[in-house]
Amino acid sequence: MFNFGLPIETLDFFHSAISKKDMVKKIQLRAEIDEYNDVSELDVMDARLLEAASRAADTAYAPYSRFNVGAAALLENGVIVIGNNQENVAYPSGLCAERVVMFSVGAHHPDVPVKALAITAKSEEFEIDEPLAPCGACRQVMVETEKKYGQHIKIILRGQRGKVHVISSVNDILPFSFSSDKLKDK
Ligand code: THU
Repeated sequence: MFNFGLPIETLDFFHSAISKKDMVKKIQLRAEIDEYNDVSELDVMDARLLEAASRAADTAYAPYSRFNVGAAALLENGVIVIGNNQENVAYPSGLCAERVVMFSVGAHHPDVPVKALAITAKSEEFEIDEPLAPCGACRQVMVETEKKYGQHIKIILRGQRGKVHVISSVNDILPFSFSSDKLKDK
């Protein structure tokens, strides 16, 4: 093992400082995902939201990955806001569909909570037959919207066909998230 040039005694000290015997508690994180075999098993509104996400994926700007993602957010007032991934030749300048839609909601409907978010993906090169798992950065943005209104956001995930995953709160897929209370002294 590479010892970073540290003497063995120092390494022993670090090892004992972090060894399991000092652990006082094991914190377990739990995620719950409801799986459906097909979109036909969903609530009508969830199926409709997925359909809106699928249409949004058709107009994604994804010339580099050729992986189109669509998202549709259902707001508390019944309005549906859509978004899709927007890529850029300077790759990191692009944005995922989920953040496009969440930021669009924040800009156009700043005071309206989000009730549900459907996300889907399609590719011209291969068939996506599994639900898409949103990236970590998007989960962070979604969880903040959830916390902002103190209301759960239902997440509905599907590929181009097949199984659907329904999650009742973003917190389920991003437990132990960074939140604004960490910015303040206790
Ligand atoms: N992408 C999304 O839009 N959402 C995700 O959750 C994962 C990835 C986009 C980013 C990029 O435009 C393309 O998919 C390939 O990563």
